[in-house]
Amino acid sequence: MTSLDALAGTARGGTLYGIGVGPGDVRYLTLRAAGLVRAVDVVAFFAKRGLPGNARRIVAPLMAEGQAEERFEYPVTDEIPAEHPDYQQKIGAFYRETAATLAGLLRAGKSVGLLAEGDPFFYGSFMHMWRRLSPDFPVEVVPGVTGMSGCWTRANVPMTWGNDTLAVLPGTLGEEQLVDRLRRTDAAVIMKVGRNLAKVRRAVETAGLLSRAVYVERGTMQDERILPLSECAAPQGAYFAMVLIPGEGRQL
Ligand SMILES: C[S@@+](CC[C@H](N)C(=O)[O-])C[C@H]1O[C@@H](n2cnc3c(N)ncnc32)[C@H](O)[C@@H]1O
Repeated sequence: MTSLDALAGTARGGTLYGIGVGPGDVRYLTLRAAGLVRAVDVVAFFAKRGLPGNARRIVAPLMAEGQAEERFEYPVTDEIPAEHPDYQQKIGAFYRETAATLAGLLRAGKSVGLLAEGDPFFYGSFMHMWRRLSPDFPVEVVPGVTGMSGCWTRANVPMTWGNDTLAVLPGTLGEEQLVDRLRRTDAAVIMKVGRNLAKVRRAVETAGLLSRAVYVERGTMQDERILPLSECAAPQGAYFAMVLIPGEGRQL
């Protein structure tokens, strides 16, 4: 019988791996992702200032003793709106420096696994490294179970039936835009709810969807919370929170 390690494969020196680590529960990593976390020379990850890093926390049970790590701390996350020039200047400089550090490791022949919560190509910081480094270095992207997939599974909410359309909306959109988009879809996932919770709730209510909306915080993680959006009175939610509005299409 083939061993799990043989199925997961090995890491090549000088290659950047974008490793999707799934929504939170380590058991939802793919075989390839779990194998690479153990195989790469350096495990790299992003973290909010003063926090251990969510993706790093997810893979903690897989890390080998003494494994080399590279922690990249965001100078700013959701304290300033992403459209603000200060945010763009600080994050732009941070991504340039991070890409330079990663390039140095790759040039030295190291295999580097950059962890990405959920899927690397879905609203992930990894994409900013991929854009800068893939022209010059080999890059392999390992898909992950998205946060939304983990959340609707835990909330026990089938999302799209028959011909239902699904809209994925960032909660950072303006209220009117949210209402407009919600009115034109059958099912919706609203990401980046955190500081936008009160606005998102108003938009969902205006679109007439409050009775169907479910709030999921830290889905699949140990301190997960799932409740109807109508029961969320707090003005703010957690950073890892989303709202799910399931479709009501053809159910045979
Ligand atoms: C920068 S995006 C990262 C998305 C990630 N790459 C993915 O594939 O889901 C961060 C947003 O994803 C959502 N999110 C990701 N994982 C989540 C989880 N386990 N529970 C709730 N929300 C989650 C939240 O809305 C959060 O604000």
